[in-house]
Amino acid sequence: MNSAWRAAALAVLLAACSKTPTEKLTVTQQAFGKTADGTPVDLFTLANPRGVQVSITNYGGIIVSLLAPDRQGRPGDIVLGFERLEDYLKGHPYFGAIVGRYGNRIAQGRFTLDGVEYRLARNNGENHLHGGLQGFDKKVWAARHWTDSDGAHLELAYSSPDGEEGYPGRLDVKVTYTLAENNQLRMDYYAVTDKPTVVNLTNHSYFNLAGEGDILGHILRLNADRFTPVDSGLIPTGELRPVAGTPFDFTAPTPIGARIEQDDEQLRFGRGYDHNFVLRGAGGALAEAAEVYEPRTGRVLRVLTTEPGVQFYTGNFLDGTLRGKGGRVYARRSGFCLETQHFPDSPNRPTFPSTVLRPGQTYRSTTVLEFSAR
Ligand code: GLA
Repeated sequence: MNSAWRAAALAVLLAACSKTPTEKLTVTQQAFGKTADGTPVDLFTLANPRGVQVSITNYGGIIVSLLAPDRQGRPGDIVLGFERLEDYLKGHPYFGAIVGRYGNRIAQGRFTLDGVEYRLARNNGENHLHGGLQGFDKKVWAARHWTDSDGAHLELAYSSPDGEEGYPGRLDVKVTYTLAENNQLRMDYYAVTDKPTVVNLTNHSYFNLAGEGDILGHILRLNADRFTPVDSGLIPTGELRPVAGTPFDFTAPTPIGARIEQDDEQLRFGRGYDHNFVLRGAGGALAEAAEVYEPRTGRVLRVLTTEPGVQFYTGNFLDGTLRGKGGRVYARRSGFCLETQHFPDSPNRPTFPSTVLRPGQTYRSTTVLEFSAR
Protein backbone atom coordinates (compact mmCIF):
# COMPACT_ATOMS: atom_id res chain seq x y z
CA MET A 1 0.00 0.00 0.00
CA ASN A 2 1.64 3.28 -0.99
CA SER A 3 1.61 6.08 1.51
CA ALA A 4 -0.54 8.45 -0.56
CA TRP A 5 -3.24 5.81 -0.82
CA ARG A 6 -2.95 5.09 2.89
CA ALA A 7 -3.34 8.78 3.76
CA ALA A 8 -6.38 9.05 1.51
CA ALA A 9 -7.94 5.92 3.01
CA LEU A 10 -7.28 7.24 6.49
CA ALA A 11 -8.87 10.59 5.61
CA VAL A 12 -12.00 8.85 4.33
CA LEU A 13 -12.13 6.70 7.45
CA LEU A 14 -11.68 9.68 9.76
CA ALA A 15 -14.36 11.65 7.92
CA ALA A 16 -16.71 8.68 8.22
CA CYS A 17 -16.00 8.29 11.93
CA SER A 18 -16.41 11.96 12.73
CA LYS A 19 -19.71 11.96 10.86
CA THR A 20 -21.13 8.86 12.48
CA PRO A 21 -22.70 10.46 15.58
CA THR A 22 -24.46 13.17 13.59
CA GLU A 23 -25.57 11.19 10.57
CA LYS A 24 -28.83 10.20 12.12
CA LEU A 25 -31.42 11.54 14.53
CA THR A 26 -30.62 10.69 18.11
CA VAL A 27 -32.14 10.90 21.59
CA THR A 28 -30.02 10.59 24.69
CA GLN A 29 -31.09 10.55 28.33
CA GLN A 30 -29.15 11.64 31.41
CA ALA A 31 -29.93 12.34 35.06
CA PHE A 32 -30.78 16.00 35.74
CA GLY A 33 -31.31 15.91 39.52
CA LYS A 34 -34.11 15.45 42.04
CA THR A 35 -37.13 17.54 43.00
CA ALA A 36 -37.67 18.64 46.64
CA ASP A 37 -39.55 15.38 47.40
CA GLY A 38 -36.73 13.27 45.95
CA THR A 39 -38.29 12.44 42.59
CA PRO A 40 -35.55 11.90 40.00
CA VAL A 41 -35.73 14.02 36.87
CA ASP A 42 -33.96 13.48 33.55
CA LEU A 43 -32.70 15.56 30.67
CA PHE A 44 -33.38 14.30 27.14
CA THR A 45 -31.40 15.56 24.17
CA LEU A 46 -32.81 15.30 20.67
CA ALA A 47 -30.32 15.98 17.87
CA ASN A 48 -30.47 15.99 14.09
CA PRO A 49 -27.67 15.81 11.48
CA ARG A 50 -28.07 19.48 10.52
CA GLY A 51 -26.93 20.88 13.85
CA VAL A 52 -30.20 21.42 15.68
CA GLN A 53 -30.12 20.04 19.20
CA VAL A 54 -32.77 20.45 21.87
CA SER A 55 -32.53 19.42 25.52
CA ILE A 56 -35.78 18.95 27.41
CA THR A 57 -36.36 17.91 31.01
CA ASN A 58 -39.41 15.98 32.17
CA TYR A 59 -39.67 18.49 35.04
CA GLY A 60 -42.30 20.83 33.59
CA GLY A 61 -41.48 19.62 30.07
CA ILE A 62 -39.00 22.50 30.03
CA ILE A 63 -36.86 23.19 26.96
CA VAL A 64 -33.55 23.79 28.74
CA SER A 65 -31.43 24.52 25.67
CA LEU A 66 -31.95 24.76 21.94
CA LEU A 67 -28.97 24.93 19.61
CA ALA A 68 -29.54 26.25 16.11
CA PRO A 69 -26.93 27.17 13.46
CA ASP A 70 -26.34 30.79 12.41
CA ARG A 71 -25.66 31.83 8.80
CA GLN A 72 -22.07 30.54 9.12
CA GLY A 73 -23.35 27.24 10.46
CA ARG A 74 -22.21 28.05 14.00
CA PRO A 75 -24.53 26.65 16.66
CA GLY A 76 -25.90 28.95 19.36
CA ASP A 77 -28.27 28.45 22.24
CA ILE A 78 -31.40 30.47 21.40
CA VAL A 79 -33.51 29.97 24.54
CA LEU A 80 -33.29 31.40 28.06
CA GLY A 81 -32.93 28.99 30.94
CA PHE A 82 -30.61 27.43 33.49
CA GLU A 83 -27.91 24.76 33.52
CA ARG A 84 -29.14 23.11 36.71
CA LEU A 85 -32.47 21.74 37.91
CA GLU A 86 -32.02 23.53 41.27
CA ASP A 87 -32.35 26.89 39.55
CA TYR A 88 -35.65 25.86 37.95
CA LEU A 89 -36.89 24.57 41.33
CA LYS A 90 -36.16 27.96 42.95
CA GLY A 91 -38.77 29.60 40.74
CA HIS A 92 -38.65 31.38 37.38
CA PRO A 93 -41.02 33.02 34.88
CA TYR A 94 -42.01 29.80 33.05
CA PHE A 95 -38.73 29.55 31.05
CA GLY A 96 -39.31 26.93 28.32
CA ALA A 97 -42.08 25.18 30.23
CA ILE A 98 -45.28 23.44 29.23
CA VAL A 99 -48.00 25.65 30.63
CA GLY A 100 -51.43 24.36 31.70
CA ARG A 101 -54.10 23.34 32.47
CA TYR A 102 -54.98 26.82 31.23
CA GLY A 103 -52.16 28.87 29.74
CA ASN A 104 -52.58 32.65 30.23
CA ARG A 105 -55.13 34.46 32.40
CA ILE A 106 -58.60 33.71 33.70
CA ALA A 107 -60.24 36.82 35.19
CA GLN A 108 -60.75 36.80 38.94
CA GLY A 109 -59.71 33.12 38.94
CA ARG A 110 -63.20 31.92 38.28
CA PHE A 111 -65.48 30.67 35.53
CA THR A 112 -68.87 28.98 35.19
CA LEU A 113 -69.32 25.81 33.17
CA ASP A 114 -72.72 24.09 32.73
CA GLY A 115 -74.12 26.29 35.52
CA VAL A 116 -71.42 25.40 38.09
CA GLU A 117 -68.94 28.03 39.25
CA TYR A 118 -65.31 26.92 39.67
CA ARG A 119 -62.73 28.87 41.67
CA LEU A 120 -59.05 28.78 40.80
CA ALA A 121 -55.94 30.16 42.49
CA ARG A 122 -55.42 33.91 42.06
CA ASN A 123 -51.69 33.86 41.45
CA ASN A 124 -51.41 37.03 39.33
CA GLY A 125 -52.95 39.94 41.18
CA GLU A 126 -56.64 39.12 41.32
CA ASN A 127 -56.40 36.83 38.29
CA HIS A 128 -55.42 33.24 37.60
CA LEU A 129 -52.30 32.74 35.43
CA HIS A 130 -50.76 29.73 33.66
CA GLY A 131 -52.58 26.98 35.55
CA GLY A 132 -52.13 28.28 39.10
CA LEU A 133 -49.69 27.76 41.94
CA GLN A 134 -48.54 24.28 40.91
CA GLY A 135 -49.21 24.27 37.18
CA PHE A 136 -48.01 21.75 34.61
CA ASP A 137 -44.70 23.65 34.49
CA LYS A 138 -43.90 22.27 37.98
CA LYS A 139 -44.97 18.63 37.47
CA VAL A 140 -42.72 15.67 36.84
CA TRP A 141 -43.99 14.09 33.63
CA ALA A 142 -43.59 10.41 32.66
CA ALA A 143 -41.22 10.23 29.70
CA ARG A 144 -40.66 7.86 26.79
CA HIS A 145 -38.47 8.39 23.77
CA TRP A 146 -37.81 6.81 20.41
CA THR A 147 -36.66 7.62 16.88
CA ASP A 148 -38.30 6.68 13.59
CA SER A 149 -38.42 8.02 10.05
CA ASP A 150 -40.39 11.12 11.22
CA GLY A 151 -37.75 12.19 13.70
CA ALA A 152 -36.51 11.93 17.26
CA HIS A 153 -39.42 11.89 19.69
CA LEU A 154 -39.90 12.62 23.38
CA GLU A 155 -43.37 11.92 24.73
CA LEU A 156 -44.31 13.38 28.10
CA ALA A 157 -47.45 12.29 29.96
CA TYR A 158 -49.16 13.72 33.02
CA SER A 159 -52.48 12.93 34.65
CA SER A 160 -53.97 15.97 36.40
CA PRO A 161 -56.39 14.86 39.14
CA ASP A 162 -60.00 16.06 39.35
CA GLY A 163 -60.00 19.37 41.27
CA GLU A 164 -56.29 20.08 40.83
CA GLU A 165 -55.77 23.86 41.13
CA GLY A 166 -59.59 24.11 41.19
CA TYR A 167 -60.22 22.71 37.71
CA PRO A 168 -62.97 20.11 37.23
CA GLY A 169 -62.26 16.64 35.84
CA ARG A 170 -59.26 14.39 35.66
CA LEU A 171 -57.25 15.46 32.64
CA ASP A 172 -54.87 13.01 30.97
CA VAL A 173 -52.32 14.98 28.97
CA LYS A 174 -49.62 13.99 26.51
CA VAL A 175 -47.14 16.31 24.86
CA THR A 176 -44.79 14.97 22.21
CA TYR A 177 -41.71 16.87 21.09
CA THR A 178 -40.43 15.73 17.70
CA LEU A 179 -37.21 16.96 16.13
CA ALA A 180 -37.14 16.22 12.40
CA GLU A 181 -34.34 16.15 9.83
CA ASN A 182 -35.70 19.34 8.24
CA ASN A 183 -34.95 21.47 11.35
CA GLN A 184 -38.52 21.51 12.58
CA LEU A 185 -39.29 20.98 16.25
CA ARG A 186 -42.91 19.91 16.51
CA MET A 187 -45.00 19.96 19.67
CA ASP A 188 -48.15 17.84 19.63
CA TYR A 189 -50.53 18.29 22.56
CA TYR A 190 -53.28 15.80 23.40
CA ALA A 191 -55.73 15.65 26.33
CA VAL A 192 -58.88 13.81 27.41
CA THR A 193 -61.09 14.43 30.44
CA ASP A 194 -63.70 12.57 32.51
CA LYS A 195 -65.76 15.73 33.31
CA PRO A 196 -66.38 18.93 31.35
CA THR A 197 -63.37 21.22 31.89
CA VAL A 198 -61.30 23.92 30.17
CA VAL A 199 -57.91 23.36 28.51
CA ASN A 200 -55.36 25.67 26.91
CA LEU A 201 -51.83 24.25 26.60
CA THR A 202 -48.73 25.99 25.33
CA ASN A 203 -44.96 26.16 25.58
CA HIS A 204 -43.43 29.22 27.25
CA SER A 205 -39.95 29.36 25.69
CA TYR A 206 -38.15 32.70 25.73
CA PHE A 207 -36.14 33.09 22.53
CA ASN A 208 -33.13 35.22 21.78
CA LEU A 209 -31.88 34.31 18.31
CA ALA A 210 -28.58 36.13 18.88
CA GLY A 211 -28.06 34.21 22.12
CA GLU A 212 -27.29 37.43 24.02
CA GLY A 213 -28.30 41.06 24.43
CA ASP A 214 -31.84 42.35 24.13
CA ILE A 215 -34.35 41.27 21.50
CA LEU A 216 -35.35 44.75 20.30
CA GLY A 217 -33.44 44.40 17.00
CA HIS A 218 -35.09 41.10 16.08
CA ILE A 219 -37.41 41.56 13.11
CA LEU A 220 -40.89 40.13 13.59
CA ARG A 221 -43.69 39.35 11.19
CA LEU A 222 -47.02 38.17 12.62
CA ASN A 223 -49.86 36.77 10.55
CA ALA A 224 -52.41 38.70 12.56
CA ASP A 225 -54.69 41.55 11.47
CA ARG A 226 -56.27 41.91 14.92
CA PHE A 227 -55.32 41.58 18.56
CA THR A 228 -57.26 41.33 21.81
CA PRO A 229 -56.76 44.58 23.77
CA VAL A 230 -56.60 44.23 27.55
CA ASP A 231 -57.40 46.09 30.76
CA SER A 232 -54.70 47.07 33.27
CA GLY A 233 -54.74 43.50 34.69
CA LEU A 234 -54.03 42.13 31.17
CA ILE A 235 -57.53 40.64 30.85
CA PRO A 236 -59.02 40.99 27.34
CA THR A 237 -61.85 43.51 27.05
CA GLY A 238 -63.58 41.26 24.49
CA GLU A 239 -62.78 43.52 21.55
CA LEU A 240 -60.90 42.20 18.50
CA ARG A 241 -59.09 45.37 17.47
CA PRO A 242 -57.48 45.87 14.03
CA VAL A 243 -53.69 46.26 14.29
CA ALA A 244 -53.57 48.65 11.32
CA GLY A 245 -52.18 52.03 12.30
CA THR A 246 -51.10 50.84 15.77
CA PRO A 247 -47.76 49.65 17.26
CA PHE A 248 -49.32 46.18 17.09
CA ASP A 249 -49.09 46.00 13.31
CA PHE A 250 -46.46 43.36 12.50
CA THR A 251 -48.08 42.29 9.23
CA ALA A 252 -44.91 43.57 7.51
CA PRO A 253 -41.53 42.62 9.04
CA THR A 254 -40.72 45.21 11.74
CA PRO A 255 -38.05 45.40 14.47
CA ILE A 256 -39.60 44.43 17.82
CA GLY A 257 -38.19 47.62 19.37
CA ALA A 258 -39.33 50.04 16.66
CA ARG A 259 -42.50 51.18 18.47
CA ILE A 260 -42.28 49.46 21.87
CA GLU A 261 -41.73 52.76 23.73
CA GLN A 262 -44.55 54.63 22.00
CA ASP A 263 -47.08 56.39 24.18
CA ASP A 264 -49.85 53.85 23.79
CA GLU A 265 -52.28 52.70 26.48
CA GLN A 266 -52.02 49.03 25.49
CA LEU A 267 -48.19 49.12 25.60
CA ARG A 268 -48.43 50.82 29.00
CA PHE A 269 -50.70 48.08 30.36
CA GLY A 270 -48.31 45.39 29.12
CA ARG A 271 -45.12 47.38 29.96
CA GLY A 272 -44.36 46.48 26.33
CA TYR A 273 -45.89 43.72 24.25
CA ASP A 274 -47.78 41.14 26.30
CA HIS A 275 -50.80 40.61 24.08
CA ASN A 276 -52.77 37.94 22.30
CA PHE A 277 -52.87 38.25 18.52
CA VAL A 278 -55.73 36.81 16.47
CA LEU A 279 -54.13 34.64 13.82
CA ARG A 280 -55.36 34.77 10.24
CA GLY A 281 -55.58 31.00 10.04
CA ALA A 282 -58.24 31.20 12.82
CA GLY A 283 -57.21 27.83 14.19
CA GLY A 284 -57.74 24.29 12.95
CA ALA A 285 -55.25 23.63 10.17
CA LEU A 286 -51.53 24.11 10.75
CA ALA A 287 -50.72 27.62 9.50
CA GLU A 288 -47.83 30.07 9.82
CA ALA A 289 -48.23 32.36 12.83
CA ALA A 290 -44.94 34.24 12.92
CA GLU A 291 -41.45 34.64 11.53
CA VAL A 292 -38.59 36.24 13.44
CA TYR A 293 -35.27 37.19 11.84
CA GLU A 294 -32.14 38.22 13.74
CA PRO A 295 -29.99 40.33 11.38
CA ARG A 296 -26.61 39.88 13.09
CA THR A 297 -26.57 36.07 13.15
CA GLY A 298 -29.03 35.51 10.30
CA ARG A 299 -31.05 33.09 12.39
CA VAL A 300 -34.71 32.71 11.52
CA LEU A 301 -37.47 31.21 13.64
CA ARG A 302 -40.77 30.38 12.01
CA VAL A 303 -43.75 29.39 14.13
CA LEU A 304 -46.67 27.40 12.76
CA THR A 305 -49.71 26.41 14.77
CA THR A 306 -53.21 24.99 14.74
CA GLU A 307 -54.18 27.49 17.48
CA PRO A 308 -56.28 30.61 16.82
CA GLY A 309 -54.01 32.93 18.82
CA VAL A 310 -50.47 33.70 19.92
CA GLN A 311 -49.32 35.66 22.99
CA PHE A 312 -46.44 37.88 21.97
CA TYR A 313 -44.55 38.75 25.16
CA THR A 314 -41.32 40.76 25.17
CA GLY A 315 -39.93 39.70 28.56
CA ASN A 316 -41.05 42.95 30.17
CA PHE A 317 -41.04 41.46 33.66
CA LEU A 318 -37.47 40.14 33.45
CA ASP A 319 -35.49 42.45 35.73
CA GLY A 320 -31.91 41.24 35.78
CA THR A 321 -32.25 39.30 39.04
CA LEU A 322 -32.05 35.89 37.36
CA ARG A 323 -28.69 34.60 36.20
CA GLY A 324 -28.97 31.94 33.52
CA LYS A 325 -26.79 29.70 31.41
CA GLY A 326 -23.15 30.73 31.21
CA GLY A 327 -23.72 33.30 33.97
CA ARG A 328 -25.83 35.50 31.70
CA VAL A 329 -27.99 38.09 33.44
CA TYR A 330 -31.56 38.01 32.15
CA ALA A 331 -32.31 41.69 31.84
CA ARG A 332 -35.60 43.22 30.75
CA ARG A 333 -36.45 42.27 27.15
CA SER A 334 -33.58 39.80 26.79
CA GLY A 335 -36.04 37.21 25.43
CA PHE A 336 -39.39 37.10 23.67
CA CYS A 337 -42.18 34.50 23.81
CA LEU A 338 -44.61 33.42 21.14
CA GLU A 339 -47.11 31.36 23.14
CA THR A 340 -49.52 29.69 20.73
CA GLN A 341 -52.89 29.48 22.43
CA HIS A 342 -56.62 30.05 22.63
CA PHE A 343 -57.43 33.60 23.72
CA PRO A 344 -56.92 34.59 27.37
CA ASP A 345 -60.01 34.41 29.62
CA SER A 346 -61.96 32.38 27.03
CA PRO A 347 -63.87 30.51 29.78
CA ASN A 348 -65.56 33.86 30.58
CA ARG A 349 -65.88 35.05 26.98
CA PRO A 350 -68.59 33.21 25.02
CA THR A 351 -67.65 35.11 21.83
CA PHE A 352 -64.06 33.75 21.86
CA PRO A 353 -63.26 30.30 20.38
CA SER A 354 -64.21 27.74 23.04
CA THR A 355 -61.68 26.10 25.37
CA VAL A 356 -64.21 23.64 26.81
CA LEU A 357 -63.31 19.95 26.65
CA ARG A 358 -65.98 17.34 27.38
CA PRO A 359 -65.73 13.61 28.08
CA GLY A 360 -65.51 11.71 24.79
CA GLN A 361 -63.79 14.63 23.04
CA THR A 362 -60.06 14.85 22.36
CA TYR A 363 -58.07 18.06 22.76
CA ARG A 364 -55.42 18.36 20.08
CA SER A 365 -53.04 21.18 19.33
CA THR A 366 -49.86 21.35 17.27
CA THR A 367 -47.14 23.97 17.12
CA VAL A 368 -44.03 23.76 14.93
CA LEU A 369 -40.83 25.76 15.45
CA GLU A 370 -38.71 25.87 12.31
CA PHE A 371 -35.08 26.99 12.40
CA SER A 372 -33.04 28.31 9.50
CA ALA A 373 -30.55 31.08 8.68
CA ARG A 374 -30.12 33.51 5.81
C1 GLA B 1 -46.99 35.33 30.24
C2 GLA B 1 -47.78 36.51 30.65
C3 GLA B 1 -46.89 37.60 31.12
C4 GLA B 1 -45.98 37.10 32.21
C5 GLA B 1 -45.21 35.90 31.73
C6 GLA B 1 -44.40 35.28 32.81
O1 GLA B 1 -46.46 35.46 29.01
O2 GLA B 1 -48.64 36.97 29.63
O3 GLA B 1 -47.66 38.67 31.59
O4 GLA B 1 -46.73 36.76 33.33
O5 GLA B 1 -46.09 34.93 31.24
O6 GLA B 1 -43.64 36.22 33.50
